[in-house]
Amino acid sequence: MDDRLVGSNINTEDSEEPGLRPRSFNEYIGQDKVKDNLMVYIEAAKQRQESLDHVLLYGPPGLGKTTLAGIIASEMGVSLKVTSGPAIEKPGDLAAILTNLGQFDVLFIDEIHRLNRTVEEILYPAMEDYALDLIIGKGPSARSIRLDLSKFTLIGATTRAGLLTSPLRDRFGIINRLELYSNEELKNIVQRSSKILNICIDENAAMEIALRSRGTPRIANRLLKRIRDFAQIRASGRIDLEITKYALNALEVDEKGLDRVDRNLLLCIIKKFDGGPVGLDTMAAATGEEADTIEDVYEPYLIQLGFLQKTPRGRKVTLSAYRHLNIEPEQDEQISML
Ligand SMILES: Nc1ncnc2c1ncn2[C@@H]1O[C@H](COP(=O)(O)OP(=O)(O)OP(=O)(O)O)[C@@H](O)[C@H]1O
Ligand SMILES: [Mg+2]
Repeated sequence: MDDRLVGSNINTEDSEEPGLRPRSFNEYIGQDKVKDNLMVYIEAAKQRQESLDHVLLYGPPGLGKTTLAGIIASEMGVSLKVTSGPAIEKPGDLAAILTNLGQFDVLFIDEIHRLNRTVEEILYPAMEDYALDLIIGKGPSARSIRLDLSKFTLIGATTRAGLLTSPLRDRFGIINRLELYSNEELKNIVQRSSKILNICIDENAAMEIALRSRGTPRIANRLLKRIRDFAQIRASGRIDLEITKYALNALEVDEKGLDRVDRNLLLCIIKKFDGGPVGLDTMAAATGEEADTIEDVYEPYLIQLGFLQKTPRGRKVTLSAYRHLNIEPEQDEQISML
């Protein structure tokens, strides 16, 4: 799935072009509400000479959570330490990271829902009282000591806030949900990236890429880079609408930004389950995709497009998805959809 062109997980391509990642709020396009609020909180914390309250960022992959964490640290004028839930195996690992943080520093934990329980318990007093409770020694001579930490800010990122335990979620003072981007915002992102990469692109071509990027900046950037290749080899180098459509067609990304995997997912529900409703696990088994991946990566956009519906009995393909795929629904399904 990582190699999927419209997949939104980080792949090696993104790291090749670190210049694309916005470094200040000015460069960060969209998410205005989140941005405006964060600017207030940061300004206020700076004025009071305090650390910023802990921040939880959640939303589908590729929307700019990691980017935002970097911006927050730089606006606060502090260092950023980046790690991720699965990377912290033992409580001692986290304790080592925490004791090395400086005054007001930002600790970014990606995929924070994947912290294991014993590690998570270290975080509670750290977040609340900026302290570590350590047990020294074993058996009857064991004693617990409390170690003070610098006042720091924890930024947690997760694709689904629902997977966080409630004691952890409750310790975040600032909880922000990142939304899928509008086409206009994505167009601006494509234009900004083109400038940085020295690509000439027509406005209507930038809009076409925006329309097919499933609301996700990471995908917009990835499509832009692939289309640049086509423009360079198959045309004059300039990205116009014609070469954009040609390239997207070659990449099998359709007008709505769906790729083969999305279409297979919809087709599978239609063909094997009469359009649904079908449970997530059944869908996963039938398509060979992981349930988590379906829920985090494919579904949000299909639901936003109105192609998929979540019902209490499972996922259901909608009439507009049938239309998009050019499939005639069975008679009784047409009735049940009305
Ligand atoms: N608001 C934005 N404006 C411009 N570019 C953006 C914006 N948000 C994200 N990007 C671009 O998209 C890429 C992906 O963003 P980022 O890595 O921050 O996403 P993420 O939410 O952390 O994803 P994941 O959940 O997979 O970790 C960045 O490298 C950046 O170039
Ligand atoms: Mg990230």
